[in-house]
Amino acid sequence: MSVFNEAIRNFLSPINQFLDDEKITEIMINGPKDIFIEKDGVLIKTPAKFHDEDDLRSAVRAIAQSVGRIIDNEHPYLDAYMTDGSRVAVIIPPLAKAGTIVTIRKFSAKKLGLKDLIDKGSLSKEAARFLDICVYLGKNILVSGGTGSGKTTMLNVLGQRIPAGQRLITIEDSLELQIDANHVVNLVSRKADPGKNLEAITIRNLVHSAMRMRPDRLVVGEVRGDEALDLVQVMNTGHHGSMGTIHANNPKDACIRLEMLCLLGDTKIPAELMRLMISSAVQVIVHCERLPDGSRRTLAICELLGLDALKNYVVKDIFRFVQKNKDTQTGKIEGEIVPCDYVPSFFEEIRVNKLPFPKENFQGPSWVTALKKSA
Ligand SMILES: Nc1ncnc2c1ncn2[C@@H]1O[C@H](COP(=O)(O)OP(=O)(O)OP(=O)(O)O)[C@@H](O)[C@H]1O
Ligand SMILES: [Mg+2]
Repeated sequence: MSVFNEAIRNFLSPINQFLDDEKITEIMINGPKDIFIEKDGVLIKTPAKFHDEDDLRSAVRAIAQSVGRIIDNEHPYLDAYMTDGSRVAVIIPPLAKAGTIVTIRKFSAKKLGLKDLIDKGSLSKEAARFLDICVYLGKNILVSGGTGSGKTTMLNVLGQRIPAGQRLITIEDSLELQIDANHVVNLVSRKADPGKNLEAITIRNLVHSAMRMRPDRLVVGEVRGDEALDLVQVMNTGHHGSMGTIHANNPKDACIRLEMLCLLGDTKIPAELMRLMISSAVQVIVHCERLPDGSRRTLAICELLGLDALKNYVVKDIFRFVQKNKDTQTGKIEGEIVPCDYVPSFFEEIRVNKLPFPKENFQGPSWVTALKKSA
């Protein structure tokens, strides 16, 4: 089943084959004659073409109309979420030079779980078990990474591990998260629609509402505005096990970006205090990356330990991806996420709860030491 109805599919006939192929996760149309797809993480240029710019523009107008929006000179771009969670981003000339640009992130009907991430090489068994324990123990988790690195997928996977019986509230811009818990409330923000006299309902508005809905845990799909402050406050006020994703290049940058977002709004909280709040709100950072060979890997699982004497974030690697090799023929990167000889500060909680994760599991393998020595 495609996200688009028959009428729209007629307009989109040059790309219908890509919409129907489950292995294709993203379709990028750079003007009528230049169409790329992403398959198995790799970008491929396709021979598909629209007849001309007018045909492509008609397709885009039909998509906009189907979600009650307009795309024209006055509204030259569109970020639309389809009902199934697929995302469509459009930008038209003169803002885009090559013609109408459309990016479709297809919704994946297959929900990935921890085991899939292990099978795909994104996590090791131990790293997956450790993350499972973090969720079980109600650690507040920030998932960081670049665009399309697998943050939402990771959040979804972690969300599915939330113990039954806890009331979970998810908040996002589109229904991308599919957390299959027995007590979950999904809230979705809304863009303003002046034509219908509808005001925007932001993620921040929804976080405020959620706090009156007795959540045990709050999950914010993507933190990218002043709702950051609310999430940090939620994490600091007893809603253990709350989570969110954030765009950042590495785990330390994730803390800095979260701090920057917290300071964006009309807050009167001084920056030093904010830093202190963040350092006690977030306990675990999971960093995702899309490697040059197209694979999505969990690059690091870290603990945020607080601030050092110079008031910098102290972030310790618990697990980290180590590259072993690169196949020169295929470009495939070989490597593993391995423990880093660091026992997290909450190990005692793991022990007293009798969770099957002995201290030895935090010991790095000897091949990593050998690799470092030979470097
Ligand atoms: N571990 C993985 N292995 C293989 N494919 C993955 C993995 N994680 C995510 N993907 C695929 O990568 C694409 C991007 O994933 P996802 O939407 O989770 O990324 P994101 O970081 O949230 O992106 P954005 O920054 O656009 O929000 C999706 O098609 C998803 O199915
Ligand atoms: Mg995402």
